[in-house]
Amino acid sequence: MTRVAIIGGSGLTALRNLEITRREVMRTPYGEPSAPLVHGRIGGQEAVFMPRHGHGHTIPPHAVNYRANIWALKEAGATHVIAVNAVGAIVGSLVPGSLAFPDQIIDYTYGREHTFFGNDQKPVTHTDFTFPYCEALRQVLIVTARESGLAAADQATYAATQGPRFETIAEINRLERDGAHIVGMTGMPEAALARELALCYASIAVIANPAAGRAEGVISLRQIEAALDAGMDQVRALLERAIPRLH
Ligand code: HPA
Repeated sequence: MTRVAIIGGSGLTALRNLEITRREVMRTPYGEPSAPLVHGRIGGQEAVFMPRHGHGHTIPPHAVNYRANIWALKEAGATHVIAVNAVGAIVGSLVPGSLAFPDQIIDYTYGREHTFFGNDQKPVTHTDFTFPYCEALRQVLIVTARESGLAAADQATYAATQGPRFETIAEINRLERDGAHIVGMTGMPEAALARELALCYASIAVIANPAAGRAEGVISLRQIEAALDAGMDQVRALLERAIPRLH
């Protein structure tokens, strides 16, 4: 049976079009998830929602308990996870307020608990991560976005940085040389942990701002908020149409 979970990021701490049926406090061997799970219906289908940064947006990217979040979703019976990630655009073709469906990741994070394996709970296992996102889920998102007339890029390499500060111009230039198109602070280790638990995981990246040095001046939080507001309306519309297709 298909069970879809949504992990909301910055700008999506609540899913307005989720008809909430109940909340569930989860305990995991890895500690507490970011928030109680919110169960409900979206697009006529059951789904479960988790705000990555907590209900009050108080948990910074480097302090998110990614293992507890992914474990809790698996424990709740999730088979598919749609992650929503705010990102900066490294390449000029991606404009604030639009969407991208990343297909590759480069991980620049450090010091985060990034695996379920190699401790007492589970023996050492090397997980295949050639294609870090679930292609079947990505295709449903791509096709649904196209049919809905949403501005969305079908491919992007996501650079996961440590945060919580934004990058320097030199860092963004390096990420671009590495082949990255978008940069965010929450893509990893979340995607890898989902793969370790065999969840079908894909990301809707919402372009919040031109990355450092890719527009005049410095990064403006006001502009980010405005772009995320516009982008999250599209995310809600997309989820409402995409989730029924997964069932
Ligand atoms: N850099 C890293 N993470 C981000 C950005 C950015 O420019 N915008 C939104 N999340």
